Amino acid sequence: MPSTIWQNRFLLLNRYRFKNVGKGARIYNPLRIDGISRISIGDHTIVSEGTWLAAMPLTGKDAQLVISDGVCLGHFNHIYATGSIVIENNVLTADKVYISDNLHSYEDVNLPVIQQPIKQCKPVVIGEGSWLGENVCVIGASIGKHCVIGANAVVTKDIPDYSVAVGAPARVIKKYNVIEKSWAIPSELGGARFFSLCA
Ligand SMILES: CC(C)(COP(=O)(O)OP(=O)(O)OC[C@H]1O[C@@H](n2cnc3c(N)ncnc32)[C@H](O)[C@@H]1OP(=O)(O)O)[C@@H](O)C(=O)NCCC(=O)NCCS
Repeated sequence: MPSTIWQNRFLLLNRYRFKNVGKGARIYNPLRIDGISRISIGDHTIVSEGTWLAAMPLTGKDAQLVISDGVCLGHFNHIYATGSIVIENNVLTADKVYISDNLHSYEDVNLPVIQQPIKQCKPVVIGEGSWLGENVCVIGASIGKHCVIGANAVVTKDIPDYSVAVGAPARVIKKYNVIEKSWAIPSELGGARFFSLCA
């Protein structure tokens, strides 16, 4: 079935089960949606095919997943909130991105991990205008405004506004210098190189 037909059918059947769906939002053939009444989708936001969205109170907290306006989620994203995940306006995620605010506990070696409780991590915010590359994982950490997270990065610590971060664990390799109005290698990394924006 063409995805546009499925998308129309999916939203036609499910729109009012969400906490909110904004105008012009499109959700293409999701893999799975858990806790739909705790999920908000903003205006003109696109959720690409094969995505798994969840807001499930598995750790005793209220759960919410807020996907704001103008967001574009790539294919096969997996976004699982047991507390709070907020994706701010105009965030772009590539394919196969994972964002979560929880972990499986593993401390008890006599119990399979699958039988151990879910551990709540910090709330997650993905800041306005940021871009997450292919296969990025964000686990219990927040990303600031207008950040770029390189392909395959694993983010477990907060990334400040206007940063480029790469690697596992993710580390900041460039920051926007507001005085120079250019992207620079942070001085703690020994950098005095500057990168003009779209020279
Ligand atoms: C991070 C990225 C945006 C490049 O940003 P950039 O500012 O142009 O960075 P540069 O190319 O100048 O690279 C700077 C350094 O980071 C390294 N680097 C770049 N991307 C990296 C990544 N994903 N993982 C690890 N290291 C990376 C470079 O090798 C370079 O290292 P060096 O200084 O030792 O040579 C890009 O590499 C990337 O990962 N893009 C995501 C692409 C994607 O997923 N697209 C999907 C379409 S939505």
